[in-house]
Amino acid sequence: MLGFPDGFVWGTATAAHQVEGGNWNNDWWAWEHAPGTPCAEPSGDACDQYHRYRDDIALLAELGLHSYRFSVEWSRIEPEDDEWSNAALDHYADVVAACHEHGVVPTVTLHHFTTPRWVATDGGWTDPRTPERFGRFCRVVAERLGDAVGTFWTINEPNIVSVMGYLEGHFPPGERDPERRRLASATLIDAHHRAVEAVRTAAPHADVGMTMAIHEWTPVDGGEERLAALREEWEDVFLRATGEDDLVGVQTYTRMVVGPDGIRAVPDDAQRTLMGWEFRPQALGASVRRAAELTGLPVVVTENGIATDDDRDRIEYVDGALRALHAAIADGVDVRGYTYWSLLDNFEWYQGYGPTFGLVGVDLGTFEREVKPSARWLGEVARANALDAG
Ligand code: GCO
Repeated sequence: MLGFPDGFVWGTATAAHQVEGGNWNNDWWAWEHAPGTPCAEPSGDACDQYHRYRDDIALLAELGLHSYRFSVEWSRIEPEDDEWSNAALDHYADVVAACHEHGVVPTVTLHHFTTPRWVATDGGWTDPRTPERFGRFCRVVAERLGDAVGTFWTINEPNIVSVMGYLEGHFPPGERDPERRRLASATLIDAHHRAVEAVRTAAPHADVGMTMAIHEWTPVDGGEERLAALREEWEDVFLRATGEDDLVGVQTYTRMVVGPDGIRAVPDDAQRTLMGWEFRPQALGASVRRAAELTGLPVVVTENGIATDDDRDRIEYVDGALRALHAAIADGVDVRGYTYWSLLDNFEWYQGYGPTFGLVGVDLGTFEREVKPSARWLGEVARANALDAG
């Protein structure tokens, strides 16, 4: 048996826009319906989790998992500048309560890729007003939910928001400009700091940090220098901004292979996931080591997973990732928990409903849930807090 430390937390995650349905008041809904964007299809009703969260939380608990990371939707809570929806706040308070009723630890992401339309119209992550507005929103949420939540995550993958929204153009606002990307990164970091301050003020007992997309990085053909430059803007600039945080969330799926000419395409003969990413479970070992080294903070794996339509590949992937994680822990890296992305097959941003990451399948017509064997397997691993040594 490969055991994990006592108190290691096993969980799974979702994000509001990907599962709730009907989030028409944010920049992503607008992006899904705008002409010329790369979106495969609109999010629509998603998994209707806005109405089905009690069943989903009960299911997660029954599987043997004991933490649930979900996000609150800013555009529901503050639909217009400084107009607050008590009904939306009550809703999320009820999600938190449902977790406690089932012995599940709730952890709350304050921003997971979606921004209210009114913020986006004002300039989104390049508008100097956004950090202060986001901080105000975080204070309201932490005041309402703080008593019952032990961990808040500020901004999900600020590095992906800036690269996909402002450099590669796949996310709103669809820009492709290195300078705008740098400006967005700086605004996101400022917003993160204000969110930390807001949580510390409103919920002083709670831990707070950011969740980061972190890759394993592999240089080839003398690509070391190029790799260092790319990694600086993709990751390091954000990891260095975590100084006052309590924890860092690590989200890893694959690796980046970098030559002197830049990021290399995945070779034709490599095993790929439905995202087109290289099947690379051991990437998680490299990413937690590096996050711990750069930040000096305890690490929580807040996302790791695979989009596949063969559930056996999911078990193989997670097993490999957990072995790499176990080795990092044995080498002294302080890792507090593992969160599988995702509980449900859900809306995968501009790729729509094609890439299936879920432990649980969802019929998009009836919203019926179907537990996959990998969900049972991960639940058993969580119950034993250990992997078979084999
Ligand atoms: C991210 C997000 C998730 C994605 C997942 C798979 O990491 O991009 O947090 O919303 O769905 O990572 O791409």
